[in-house]
Amino acid sequence: MSNGENRGAWGSKIGFVLAAAGSAIGLGNIWKFPYICGENGGGAFVLIYLVCIVVVGLPIMIGEIMIGRSTQKSPVGAFEDLGGKRSRWKIVGGMGVFAAFVMLSYYSIVAGWACHYTWLSISGEISGGDPKEVGAVFGNLYENTNANLGWHVFFMALTALVVLGGIQRGIERGARILMPLLLVMLSVLLVQATRQSGWDKALQFVFEPNTDNLTAEGILEALGHSFFTLSLGVGAMITYGSYLRKDSCLVSNSVAICVLDTVIALMACLILFPITFSFGMTPTAGPGLVFQNIPVALAQMPGSQFLCIVFFSLLVFAALTSSISLLEVVASYFIDQKKWSRKKATLVCTAAITLFGIPSALSGGTDLFGANFASAKESILGEEWGAITKGNWFDFADYVVSNWMLPLSGMLIAVFCAWRLGEKVRRDEFVRSSTLGHLYAAWLRLLQYVVPAIILVVLLHSTGVLKALGILD
Ligand code: PHE
Repeated sequence: MSNGENRGAWGSKIGFVLAAAGSAIGLGNIWKFPYICGENGGGAFVLIYLVCIVVVGLPIMIGEIMIGRSTQKSPVGAFEDLGGKRSRWKIVGGMGVFAAFVMLSYYSIVAGWACHYTWLSISGEISGGDPKEVGAVFGNLYENTNANLGWHVFFMALTALVVLGGIQRGIERGARILMPLLLVMLSVLLVQATRQSGWDKALQFVFEPNTDNLTAEGILEALGHSFFTLSLGVGAMITYGSYLRKDSCLVSNSVAICVLDTVIALMACLILFPITFSFGMTPTAGPGLVFQNIPVALAQMPGSQFLCIVFFSLLVFAALTSSISLLEVVASYFIDQKKWSRKKATLVCTAAITLFGIPSALSGGTDLFGANFASAKESILGEEWGAITKGNWFDFADYVVSNWMLPLSGMLIAVFCAWRLGEKVRRDEFVRSSTLGHLYAAWLRLLQYVVPAIILVVLLHSTGVLKALGILD
């Protein structure tokens, strides 16, 4: 059996795009982007985020898929193949696997909230439209450690079930049906949002580049989020690319994924902020934003309970198409490198990630990983850093992974592609079956100089190094 047959491959070209878009489109777009956009003051943050997507994210995505497709291996094996068995580049692959491990451990908690809201919609407990009451529901859930733990285990089990099914039967089939459905649902909600009194104010908030509330941390967050939302820096695109057939166009696939992902993130903002402004809620509500706003919006429509069920179950599915790619990264490391069976790898990794997620599930409480953790961290790191790195274990894990690990490994992947990968492999992969081959030189320059420089400056700025050197204030 050839390597390809043994590992599995996408059944069709569109299957890959849908699955990769499924990985990219997830809680990052619908839950996280609107709330960090709200916290960072809207427009200017959105603009920086868009620049990061085009100038940094897209070129790295092409690079990641290229690494995966040319080696047909998951991250560690891929770097080993291209950089040499003894090469240190393997560590970059390992970093990705580790980041995927940590990320899934808290991603699953948020997905658990979506599961809980689906359940509440079914039982009719949140179909009322009073913003205060709906807000309290989220507050209660956030602090309810038992519910968080239960849903975390449930969601991890769901993820494992799909990954056990393998590439075509599990991942591709799910994405094919659910991604289009999600787009339809969001479109319906968007039409509804245009009728809200807060629509104009929301447009202004999202698109007017007002820099008043933008900080250095905000810029780091925009950069980090562009990696998070495109599933970069953890090797997910390397892994998915490794199941991609040689005859599809890498560049146009990557552009399609980025466009879809960005459209959905902006749609989510344009759905949530009109409600926020119409009901006098604040855009800085934090992680509860989507959970507090959607039930209020839907309550104004006929069949609101049914729509709530549809929305939150789609959110669960969007999370699932992302979480499976995270678990796939970790599991495929053991399948490819340690020669474990898919079953063993999936089960062992799921158990380990579920255990590692327990502190995140307990973060809403006041004990060890919640408020106590936040104050302990502040006293160790000092006031300024303690505040930047935000609250409890859950926030901290997200902060370290999104703002530091992803950009760092993204930068290393860019450097690898631009400076280490053989010119023949690189050019061949880029131009094969492509009408966009003429963009090769521009892409390469971006990866060689622009991408590493931007990431480095942002990282140094955030650590305060540039300030200490008197370069920026
Ligand atoms: N891109 C996903 C989201 O936006 C998260 C994710 C990151 C998934 C990295 C896989 C790998 O929700």
